Amino acid sequence: MATHEIKVKINGAEHEAKVESRLLLVHLLRENLGMTGTHIGCDTTHCGACTVLLDGVPVKSCTVLAVQADGRDVMTVEGLEKDGQLHPVQEGFWQEHGLQCGFCTPGMMLTGYALLQDNPDPGEPEIRRAISGNLCRCTGYVNIIKSIQHAAGKLRPTV
Ligand code: FES
Ligand code: FES
Repeated sequence: MATHEIKVKINGAEHEAKVESRLLLVHLLRENLGMTGTHIGCDTTHCGACTVLLDGVPVKSCTVLAVQADGRDVMTVEGLEKDGQLHPVQEGFWQEHGLQCGFCTPGMMLTGYALLQDNPDPGEPEIRRAISGNLCRCTGYVNIIKSIQHAAGKLRPTV
């Protein structure tokens, strides 16, 4: 199996790794780098538990090869909190009880984060469309939507 030297910026920090061609990005994150906040729910591109941002765009990291992330920026759920301060998206999920078992939560938060970068004031239909690739097996969608709306309210300028 061929191996490749790759450099990936993850949550602002440069990482170098020697990876097999077949290694998935989710396995690079979880197994090679120990960043287990990114979950694996299906391995078949259905559930979205493995969602990370690749150059700011949500991707299912069980469907991206690690070599495809070479030279690019990855953001995982571990990148949301800064200096001990929860990101407003994390606060939203806390305040609005946007999780039950929490398995879908990292992917939901990153999808919500990316949505709010593009649309600071999304309505419920836009939020539902944005998270349509992320499944919550606890069916907590109503509170997940409220959580993202809570974050939107915190992130909007108050002028
Ligand atoms: S683990 Fe990637 S979509 Fe389910
Ligand atoms: S909170 Fe359990 S899967 Fe969503």
